Amino acid sequence: MEGRRMTINKAIIPLFLFLQFSAFCNSVPQLSTNSRFIVDGTKRVKLACVNWVSHLQPMIAEGLEKKPLSHIASKIAETGFNCVRFTWATFMFTRPDYYNLKVSDSLEKYNLTAAKTGIAENNPGILSMRILELHKSVVDELGRNNLMVVLDNHVSRPDWCCGDDDGNGFFGDDNFDPTEWLQGLTAVARAYKGNPAVVGMSMRNELRGKRQNETEWYKYMQEGANTIHKESPDFLVIISGLSYDTNLGFLRTKPLPLNLNNKLVYEAHWYTFGISADRWTAQTNNLCAVVTKMARDNYLFLTTGDNPFPLFLSEFGIDQRGVNEAENRYITCLLAEVAEKDIDWALWTFQGSYMLRQGTVNLEEYFGVMDVNWDGPRNPGYLDRLQAIRQMNQDLKSNHPTYYIIFHPQSGQCLQIGKANNVFLANCKTATRWDQHQDGGPIKLAGSPRCLTVAGDGGAACVSNDCSGNGSKWKFVSSSGLQLGAQNGQGKYLCLEKNNSNSTVIVSKKCLCVGDNLDDLATCAENPLVQWFKLVPVNV
Ligand SMILES: *[C@@H]1O[C@H](CO)[C@@H](O)[C@H](O)[C@H]1NC(C)=O
Ligand SMILES: *[C@@H]1O[C@H](CO)[C@@H](O)[C@H](O)[C@H]1NC(C)=O
Ligand SMILES: *[C@@H]1O[C@H](CO)[C@@H](O)[C@H](O)[C@H]1NC(C)=O
Ligand SMILES: *[C@@H]1O[C@H](CO)[C@@H](O)[C@H](O)[C@H]1NC(C)=O
Ligand SMILES: *[C@@H]1O[C@H](CO)[C@@H](O)[C@H](O)[C@H]1NC(C)=O
Repeated sequence: MEGRRMTINKAIIPLFLFLQFSAFCNSVPQLSTNSRFIVDGTKRVKLACVNWVSHLQPMIAEGLEKKPLSHIASKIAETGFNCVRFTWATFMFTRPDYYNLKVSDSLEKYNLTAAKTGIAENNPGILSMRILELHKSVVDELGRNNLMVVLDNHVSRPDWCCGDDDGNGFFGDDNFDPTEWLQGLTAVARAYKGNPAVVGMSMRNELRGKRQNETEWYKYMQEGANTIHKESPDFLVIISGLSYDTNLGFLRTKPLPLNLNNKLVYEAHWYTFGISADRWTAQTNNLCAVVTKMARDNYLFLTTGDNPFPLFLSEFGIDQRGVNEAENRYITCLLAEVAEKDIDWALWTFQGSYMLRQGTVNLEEYFGVMDVNWDGPRNPGYLDRLQAIRQMNQDLKSNHPTYYIIFHPQSGQCLQIGKANNVFLANCKTATRWDQHQDGGPIKLAGSPRCLTVAGDGGAACVSNDCSGNGSKWKFVSSSGLQLGAQNGQGKYLCLEKNNSNSTVIVSKKCLCVGDNLDDLATCAENPLVQWFKLVPVNV
């Protein structure tokens, strides 16, 4: 016990200094939009967020029964995120019997005895707080860690989300009164106005169900956006689509008539729910092509064209243990697209457990960054893989010419040239830059006459001075647009491939899952992910 007290005393002094420091030097910016980018003045800011929930029945940010708030907030920053999509339920801000509830009473209401003991140990100060005070304390602590916060209206009645018939799906559902929703938006915008951590509000999570209706979507999105903007004009206003936030395609023909003074951002969710696992394993290339096209048609298109907007991919994720092969393939496909488009995002999710979810106490969240005890990351390798989407590759204001980096989404690494002109995989921060590639043409090292060149079957790919031979003419050989092949001396196409799971060496190998005509095989037992590469444009 004595040892424990010592640790706490030692921790107090630096923490105190840090609080003072951050009070003066808080660097969380005030954001707006410029074309498809979120910016702080003239500088692009890329949101690399993680979700953290506080909207379940107890209305308490998850994990506070396992670790101190300051520890959790610093872990979020340490694990590579610069921002948190922090959830709230409407009733937490509109109904006194919810927002005035004391944390201890909320825990007792659901018989969460162990959680109460845990909070008393880890965060003793919060038991006597009211729900609303706690929400603010969490946001303030995130701010002290220089994390930006997006406040996400996740549900109306506090509960797990989402189902078609949970009464929380669309305007007019049992728990989803539009007037109360607007009151909630006003209350939150008012409560957090001027809070240096908060950069925006995500207006409503995953609209859905039998009541969903485009006409009403246009009406309520305008009302909600104007409500937030009027109350707190500095906030980004983030608008989500229909069908569980997978569809904003209707904006292509009918834009939302809103002028928010460069504060409007759209959000979307990309999961692989509802797609058969067999299809992912038997037709990996084709399915990646299909779901990528859906993402482009349904929401990524918003970042292009005459009047582009930022797109915040505010939920995506998998079981981080890597045990679900279909999910492993989906996330690899997604990472290739998200790296290329260089959009803002929020991973689902940070919490490694829930105090109470869907009737289960202390439920483990395998999609969570933290392990079940919140001791550390469940899978550090998975977090490393996010580097290519974490880094900013494109900036509107940059005058640099555009280069490309070659990203291998399965490993999360990028191509680099070795001393012996060999190519290997390394952190995308130090990726080698290449000139633009045209299908069937050479891939030239930027600022050099050398080109990426195929080797014999199983041999190490390299860069050579031969940019005109067939061995340097790279074609995308499958429907995924992710397998790069060039011909060997016998006129046979070989593809770039990460040599084996422990190696960073890139070799030339038989192209997987394609026939002699280079089209997809109808079904394929092999896993082409080792051969997936994406040319990602960079201008920073
Ligand atoms: C909590 O426990 C009491 C006594 O065992 C029980 O009557 C009540 O229904 C429980 N409440 C919940 C929400 O489980
Ligand atoms: C959508 O709502 C509008 C106006 O509230 C209504 O006129 C229309 O019939 C609805 N459409 C569908 C498909 O329910
Ligand atoms: C590729 O890996 C195999 C072992 O899996 C090894 O024998 C071979 O030498 C490696 N190839 C290159 C070019 O490093
Ligand atoms: C290069 O490829 C083209 C088209 O496949 C073929 O006609 C030509 O013979 C090849 N050249 C050599 C030197 O292999
Ligand atoms: C990779 O390394 C692990 C542990 O070091 C080893 O068990 C495994 O066999 C290696 N795999 C290959 C393909 O070399």
